[in-house]
Amino acid sequence: MNVLVVGSGAREHTIAWKLRQSPRLTDLFIAPGNAGTGAIGTNLDIKAADIDGIVATAQEHRIDLVIVGPEVPLSRGLVDRLTAEGIAAFGPTKAAARIESSKAFSKELMERCGMPTASSATFDRRIEARNYIEAHPGPIVVKADGLAAGKGVFVCETTEEALAAVEAMMGAGAMFGESGRTVVIEERLSGREVSAHAFSDGTTVAQMPFACDYKRARDGDEGPNTGGMGAYSPPQWLDEALEPFIHERITEATIAAMREEGSPYAGALYPGVMVTADGPRVLEFNCRLGDPEAQVLLPRLRSDLLEICWAVANGTLSECEIRWSTDAAVGVVMASGGYPDDYQTGYAIAGLGSLDEGVHVFHAGTVAGDDGEVLTSGGRVLTVVAEAPTLTEARSKAYSNVQRIHFTNAYYRRDIAAPSQDARVD
Ligand code: AMP
Ligand code: GLY
Repeated sequence: MNVLVVGSGAREHTIAWKLRQSPRLTDLFIAPGNAGTGAIGTNLDIKAADIDGIVATAQEHRIDLVIVGPEVPLSRGLVDRLTAEGIAAFGPTKAAARIESSKAFSKELMERCGMPTASSATFDRRIEARNYIEAHPGPIVVKADGLAAGKGVFVCETTEEALAAVEAMMGAGAMFGESGRTVVIEERLSGREVSAHAFSDGTTVAQMPFACDYKRARDGDEGPNTGGMGAYSPPQWLDEALEPFIHERITEATIAAMREEGSPYAGALYPGVMVTADGPRVLEFNCRLGDPEAQVLLPRLRSDLLEICWAVANGTLSECEIRWSTDAAVGVVMASGGYPDDYQTGYAIAGLGSLDEGVHVFHAGTVAGDDGEVLTSGGRVLTVVAEAPTLTEARSKAYSNVQRIHFTNAYYRRDIAAPSQDARVD
C-alpha cells in the first residue's frame, strides 16, 4: 500500500516510523515532513494546509491511504476532497472536525448529550459577552470559537482579565481573526488533566491508553503555553475506577452523538479531560492525535498502525485486534532556546548516533543539511522517547539520552514525568 502522511511535526514522524513496521506498506511519503521523516520515507514539498496540492500529489503518487496529522487540513475539508477523488483517508470530514474547529459546536454537542463539562455560554456580540462576565465575577475562561494554534484559551483570574480577553478577540484588533469573532465563556475548573484518545470508524470505538502532556514552557508549569514540552503514558495517578466513565460517558457518547447528528466521526478522537473533585469534565475535543501524546502512545502500540488506519478509513475497525504494551513511555521535547517566543535556527544537532538501543528520536523542526548533518529549523526540534517497565525507569532513560544530544541554545524541561507531577511515581 502507498501511504502519504500529512504534516511535519514529531507526531507525524512517529506515525511514519510506526507505519514503517507494517508488512503492508509499499511506498511512504510525507508532506512536507522533516529530516526524520526524510530518512524513512520520501518528503514532498507541499504544505499540510495546501488542500489542492495534497490532493494532486496523492493522485500523482498513486496513494492508497492518506493519514492526516494536524487539525488545519482536516478543518478545511481535506478528507472530504480525498474521499471525493476515491482516495481513502484517515481523519474526520470537515463537518466532523468541527468538534475541534468550533468550540461553540462542541459545547452544544456536550450539552445536548448531558456530557460532564464546564458550564458555559457562547456569544457573537461583544456587549453580551461583557455583560455576562460582569454578572459572573471570579475565575472564568474565555475561548475563541475557532482554531487559534492552541493560543485561543485565556484562563482568567479576574473580571478585568476576562474583559481584556474579550476585547482582544472581539474588538478592533481581532487577535485571532475570524476564529475569535465568536467566544465561549466557561466556568473555570480545577484538577489534573489527562488526554484520552481513541480510534473510531464512526461506529466502533477502540480506546487508546491514557496520556498526559505538559503545555507550559518551563518547569513547574510556569511560563507561556507551547505546542507541548513533553508527555508520558500511562498516568498512574488516574483512578482506574474513572477510566470506564471517561471511555463511555465521554468518548463513546461523542462518537454516538456525532453519528446521530449526521456527521459520523472517523479518525482519532482526543478529548482533553480535567479530573476535578466532582469527577472528570471535558475541557475540549481534538480531531486528531495529540502532539506530543502521539510520541508516547504509538511506541506502546503492539499492532499494525497501517491496518488500523485502513480499517478506520473503510469502516471495518470492529475487525481489528488492537494491543498495547504495558510498558510506560516518557517523551521529552528538545526545543530551540527562546521558544515559544523568538528563537534562532540553523544549528547542527550532534549526538543523534549515540543513543541507547530502543530510544526513539522523533523529529519536528529539523532539516537535512548539505553534508548529511541534521540542522534545527523550528521551535520544537525533537522529542526523545524512552520505554521501560515503569515510568521512573522510562523517565531516567529518556533524560540520560536527552543529555547526549547537543545543539546551540537547546532547551528542555527537566520535570517531565517527575514525581512531583505524578504523586504515585516514586
Ligand atoms: P482547550 O484548548 O479548551 O483545551 O484549553 C487549553 C487549556 O486551557 C486546557 O488544557 C486547560 O489547561 C485550560 N482550560 C481550558 N478550559 C478550562 C476550564 N474550563 N477550566 C480550567 N482550565 C481550562
Ligand atoms: N497535546 C496538545 C495538543 O495536541 O493539542
